[in-house]
Amino acid sequence: MAGEEEVAEAEDVMVKLGSYRGTVRLVSGDPTEEIMLLWGIQQPTLSKHNAFVCQSSLQLHLDACGRSLSILQSPSSMSSPGVTGAVMWDSGVVLGKFLEHAVESGMILLQGKKVVELGSGCGLVGCIASLLGAQVILTDLPDRLRLLKKNVEANLYGDVKGSATVNELIWGDNLDPEMSEPLPGYVLGSDVIYSEEAVTDLLTTLLELCGTQTTIIFAGELRNDAVLEYFLETAMKLFIIGRVDQSQWHPDYCSPRVVIYVLVKKQNRENEDH
Ligand SMILES: C[S@@+](CC[C@H](N)C(=O)[O-])C[C@H]1O[C@@H](n2cnc3c(N)ncnc32)[C@H](O)[C@@H]1O
Repeated sequence: MAGEEEVAEAEDVMVKLGSYRGTVRLVSGDPTEEIMLLWGIQQPTLSKHNAFVCQSSLQLHLDACGRSLSILQSPSSMSSPGVTGAVMWDSGVVLGKFLEHAVESGMILLQGKKVVELGSGCGLVGCIASLLGAQVILTDLPDRLRLLKKNVEANLYGDVKGSATVNELIWGDNLDPEMSEPLPGYVLGSDVIYSEEAVTDLLTTLLELCGTQTTIIFAGELRNDAVLEYFLETAMKLFIIGRVDQSQWHPDYCSPRVVIYVLVKKQNRENEDH
């Protein structure tokens, strides 16, 4: 008789989504099942928190794209209410290294692509995307841009395959035409699903910023099941969502506390493309 795990596996649907050439596990139906699967199988709370970052230090060093990147952090700013992007989070390191690995293994092509990063924080992901050849717009709240600009300037010197600019983007607000004309090929975000209040505004921005040719890649921290479930429940109405198996991540940067999703906008009458 088939065990429960075998039944769950048999029901998994593997698909290709957007410009990501790997296969992803389709997330459909009841989002509670996805949450139970993630928390039940990955057991995020049992593994090390902040495995790839040190949030009390002033700099994070990481080798990526043949460079030694040095990302400035501002731990003291984290005591100000509402500030979350003044230090790096594991999902940012995981997403950055995933992109590097995916480009090297031919799963993603970033060369010459327009990329918008949401909630860039200290800017590691956007810097890596730029080193991989993309034309990146790194975005965040107005008071986060100073540190973000410093990190872009400090890390993207000399011969960089792509480009990077830093812009304000408050989720839910009208988009600067520079972001949406033309629509980006990729939208990236790490640890941007962390409060229910922000999810609605985040999805409003995603709807405006993405056409059906845009591929969204989000890395999330498995910190709060209710928030992730709320995001999936709401996002599923507008986007097709697939989870990237850890076998496709950078082998040295896997974490049971992180999940990577690929999303593409649904093409239907209620949700028409630009
Ligand atoms: C938890 S931090 C993650 C930072 C970075 N992506 C990383 O992985 O290290 C969330 C980021 O989203 C930004 N953010 C939060 N709410 C936002 C909003 N309403 N509009 C734009 N950015 C927002 C924060 O300023 C912060 O940089």
